Amino acid sequence: MCGILGAVIHDGDNDLKSILLPGLRAVEYRGYDSAGIAVMNGDGISVSKKAGKLSILEDSLGESPITGSVGLGHTRWATHGAPSDENAHPHWDYQHRIILVHNGIIENYSEIKDELLSKGVTFKSETDTEVAVNLIATYYDGDLPTAVRLAGKRFRGSFSMCVMAADQPRLMVGIRNEVPLLVGHGDNATYLASDITAFLAYTRDVTYLEDGEMAVLTDNGTHYYDLATGHEIEKHVERVEWNIEQAQKGGYDTFMMKEIHEQPNVVRHLLERHLPSANEPVQMPQLDELTKENDFRLVSLLGCGTAFHACKVGKYVLEGLAKIPCRVMYAHEALYHQAPLSSATVTVAVSQSGETADTLGAVKVQKAAGSKIISICNVVGSSLTRLSDQTLYTLAGPEISVASTKAFTCQLTMIYLVALWIAEKFGKEDPAELRRLKEELLAVPDKMSAILQSEKQIEHLARVYRQVRHFYYLGRGISYPVAMEGALKLKEISYVHAEGYAGGEMKHGAIAMIEPGFPSCILAPKSPLLEKMVANMEEILSRNGEVMVITNAPDRFSKYDVHVFPFPDCPQVFSPLLMSLPLQIFAFYSAKLRGRDIDQPRNLAKSVVVE
Ligand code: AGP
Repeated sequence: MCGILGAVIHDGDNDLKSILLPGLRAVEYRGYDSAGIAVMNGDGISVSKKAGKLSILEDSLGESPITGSVGLGHTRWATHGAPSDENAHPHWDYQHRIILVHNGIIENYSEIKDELLSKGVTFKSETDTEVAVNLIATYYDGDLPTAVRLAGKRFRGSFSMCVMAADQPRLMVGIRNEVPLLVGHGDNATYLASDITAFLAYTRDVTYLEDGEMAVLTDNGTHYYDLATGHEIEKHVERVEWNIEQAQKGGYDTFMMKEIHEQPNVVRHLLERHLPSANEPVQMPQLDELTKENDFRLVSLLGCGTAFHACKVGKYVLEGLAKIPCRVMYAHEALYHQAPLSSATVTVAVSQSGETADTLGAVKVQKAAGSKIISICNVVGSSLTRLSDQTLYTLAGPEISVASTKAFTCQLTMIYLVALWIAEKFGKEDPAELRRLKEELLAVPDKMSAILQSEKQIEHLARVYRQVRHFYYLGRGISYPVAMEGALKLKEISYVHAEGYAGGEMKHGAIAMIEPGFPSCILAPKSPLLEKMVANMEEILSRNGEVMVITNAPDRFSKYDVHVFPFPDCPQVFSPLLMSLPLQIFAFYSAKLRGRDIDQPRNLAKSVVVE
């Protein structure tokens, strides 16, 4: 997810730097590993772009105005190519005729790049964006909208772009597919941006582009076209009443709730990237590379916090589906305990930020002991990725809220894809069963959306328990680490003490805490362990404890005096992806009802860069 902004000044020139930089500042939350602007004036187009935060670009530009008639700006969240000056946007085509900024991922960029290379096109960066601008340039003969449209029809994946041509000083073209792009109608300027915050200071009158639409900004007004047919289309102007903060959160009150609701889409995009359909094999080129010369017999999973919980789910998934033995350790524990390693051990380090000091330290120890390193990470070019032999990117986009939600479900999704890839490649599972599992995994995003429709029911449960000061979360098998994750979510944002326990462990001491009113959350997916979870529940009820059940077998609990949240049916192995959502939402409302600072809880940081 990146922040993009374009502006066409209709009556003469203006100090575009004073428009672009504040606009980029407002969308910097969408991506902040590099930034750049391009401004066109009588002397041509000047481009400034820098790796690092926007402030680095601002400092490099100094105080002098940059006057022009049309300009572009971009704040990057890298998906291809590490953060660097070269990889920062805007990007020129190799002949410096077309320049653009892009938000999204062009899935078929490598095949287009091969075609362009065969035509003598040269590239400076590793980005899919530079491929896009060069494809547009191959169609450009002075008609920019047509060139953009012909190229745009060939792109696959998610893309919103603002494009300008060096020989057209008062024209800008925007196209949108899967990621937002909207037109802002100012008094003497027209804007294109990834969200309204980029130009809210100048206008609240916006036109939202839909997927497969193109906008052409000229001094004679803005015209809209269907990307596929080229036919002109009518669009209306809306007036938006949001303030800047609401707009950055997509209309939600918090980044956490925005990110909870992003999960169906980001999980779907991640699945599509590696598993286009159930009829096709899982695509893991990074692992093809690694397993060519290595024959792994043990997977050593490392992480902290939520990432550690993903590792623990991963053990059940990889041992269950891929039949490969796994070892899981907290990174900070592995840092000071050299578990036996051999060249047959592959370390899988899981981290949203890729900057967690404990995880980096443990990876360095394992690497020094000869282990190959695979990371599952959300931040391109982060320290962990630079330590890794291969990185599997979760592509969840920036996760701003301290409480990890979409990163967690994307980490789980990546682990499922790895397990299915291993099972398929090494014949660990019956092909028909594999196909069924792929279909079920591809069906998860829609089921996540269905759960999000029941947000109010979960809010009600948080109200029921708004006075409690303790909470047990109980699960067995693959649900046990989900119980740990649910407890962590509640603790870290509502400050209610919570523990995630293996259900079988209750009788070995933990049940002493149960007394009238003591609440427990029972995770009870359909599975051979369901009756064991019923037994756990009955032990608690018999001591007048309170019980909330998260289950896809609600009828099994209908005769008990318990609160039940039903989630859609799915194979037990994928139930962590669905159970996580009610647990996230329950924690959210528990914190909200207690007046907590949900996005920035006390004592915590988004990335713990110290041991
Ligand atoms: C989870 O909600 C917390 N923010 C925290 O436990 C986090 O998962 C942990 O610090 C690991 O961070 P990482 O994924 O960036 O390595």
